[in-house]
Amino acid sequence: MKLSYYKTIAPYYDLIIPRDIKGICDSIEAIIKRYRKKKNILDLGCGTGRFSVELAKRGYHVTGLDITEEMLKVARQNAKKVKINIKYIKGDIRSFKLPKKTDVIWARGSVGDIINGDDVKRAFKNIGNNLSKEGIFIFDVRDDSDSVGKIRRSSFETRIFKKGKKKIIFRFIRDIDKRQKLVTIKGEVVIKSTKYFEKYKVKHTMKYYAKKEIMKLLAKVKFKILEIFPGYESEKIKLPRLVAVVQK
Ligand SMILES: C[S@@+](CC[C@H](N)C(=O)[O-])C[C@H]1O[C@@H](n2cnc3c(N)ncnc32)[C@H](O)[C@@H]1O
Repeated sequence: MKLSYYKTIAPYYDLIIPRDIKGICDSIEAIIKRYRKKKNILDLGCGTGRFSVELAKRGYHVTGLDITEEMLKVARQNAKKVKINIKYIKGDIRSFKLPKKTDVIWARGSVGDIINGDDVKRAFKNIGNNLSKEGIFIFDVRDDSDSVGKIRRSSFETRIFKKGKKKIIFRFIRDIDKRQKLVTIKGEVVIKSTKYFEKYKVKHTMKYYAKKEIMKLLAKVKFKILEIFPGYESEKIKLPRLVAVVQK
């Protein structure tokens, strides 16, 4: 599975894709408390580890797993900066195996990167195999009722960010496959400073879901749905996501 998009944008990911980390972690904590789970958590598809760090600061024992080495590199640097001990593992959601089963697995933003239906089933089954008996799996996916329907095959969108002396220009167009509910971002990332200029092509496809569709998939892999709701409750500006809490 090649995810060159993350490989390219890893050092700028947190800047380009900002999220309400504290708010989302408040919601995760509330869910974990609701189901009386221990403070052990696997951050599945942890990326730059921004959520792993926040949860570790709150006293959670966090393991982060991701397939993209470049994202993990940033995650390790971020943990080191704040002197927090987090175990980061390189692995694939579809095939990882933890040395010890865990009580809570959380996948924020990573399930939708698996665009093939059979692969998603494989991933869910594998997550189930890594959960302890009463363990819970929390994840979110992009909600198609709110997104695919509204997104048009846009003209180019340009976003400009600053990091120190560097200017990062993200220019992209969205391609929509309404039938399969796939959105592909195509474009380029330019990193400029007075001394240098780098330009990368990026392309990344994400799967959107209708609530019914995700429920059907979960039923196929025999996951019991404990809750499914729109967006993380405490997130300041709610993104159009479906959040599910499930159990084997
Ligand atoms: C949208 S990012 C979210 C990162 C992080 N959870 C966050 O919210 O900041 C998705 C992450 O999932 C990872 N990912 C995608 N598919 C994966 C797979 N099959 N196995 C492991 N990680 C995967 C990507 O490398 C990327 O870091």
